[in-house]
Amino acid sequence: MDRLKGKVVLVAGAASGLGAASARRLAQEGAKVVVGDLNAEGAERTAAGIRAERGEAVAVEFDISDDASVGHLVSAAARTYGGLDAVHVNAGDMSAVQKDTDVVDIDLSIWDRTIAVNLRGHMLVSRHAVPELLARGGGAIVYTSSIASFTGDAKRPAYAATKAGINALARHVASRWGKEGIRANAVAPGLILTPEIERGAPPEMLRSMLGRTRSTRHGRAEDVAGMVSYLISDEGAWINGQVLNVDGGTVLR
Ligand SMILES: NC(=O)c1ccc[n+]([C@@H]2O[C@H](COP(=O)([O-])OP(=O)(O)OC[C@H]3O[C@@H](n4cnc5c(N)ncnc54)[C@H](O)[C@@H]3O)[C@@H](O)[C@H]2O)c1
Repeated sequence: MDRLKGKVVLVAGAASGLGAASARRLAQEGAKVVVGDLNAEGAERTAAGIRAERGEAVAVEFDISDDASVGHLVSAAARTYGGLDAVHVNAGDMSAVQKDTDVVDIDLSIWDRTIAVNLRGHMLVSRHAVPELLARGGGAIVYTSSIASFTGDAKRPAYAATKAGINALARHVASRWGKEGIRANAVAPGLILTPEIERGAPPEMLRSMLGRTRSTRHGRAEDVAGMVSYLISDEGAWINGQVLNVDGGTVLR
């Protein structure tokens, strides 16, 4: 399929997991992909994998919690391929999630780090990307949210708060710049079996998460990548300001 042919897409947080799958899928659909990540080696691995399949990709190291670094990433993306048409903002600090206990117990540095990467970082990418998208006459932003933004949980309050914040961010960007041709949406995945999660998660937890779905299997990174690609493509032209669940029917709303 060639539905992204000629589009330049930045995936912010694409060394592994969902972001790497999204970068691969976008390139398979014809996009020129800029693979940004804190993990420079992982970003290069993703970009090299795309090039090995005859796709176009470059890797750029960046830190989403740092305004200057995000500015550098976005301008490098626009410079490399002559402009920017879309962004998938995906980075999340998954190491902080383990220590995201409850609001009485949580170490404040964990709360602050989670906000800095998962929410403020997504705002910074939007801040730098919007002018580039406007310069092309419009474009699309897709954020990675989570079903945690809807469900309520005794654990992980910082994570859930950042994901609920991302939903609000998508609605804000759509409302502020929709009339100028910018679409902003979020995908809210349920549990996605990335290699990392498959290695680390207790079998009992995996069984219980599967039980919460209305599906025969766990989610795959490719399930989310397909939705990201659709939202970025012209087929998603009439979808704006939405949060779309990709969760095997876990949350019905
Ligand atoms: N895997 C799941 O079940 C699941 C479910 C719902 C939502 N999500 C969301 O999907 C996204 C990706 O998660 P994943 O499971 O693929 O984990 P992952 O750890 O493989 O991906 C996160 C990526 O963000 C990068 N990153 C972390 N801090 C960064 C920083 N400061 N600057 C730039 N990049 C940084 C990491 O290096 C990594 O490449 C996250 O936003 C996560 O919250 C995942």
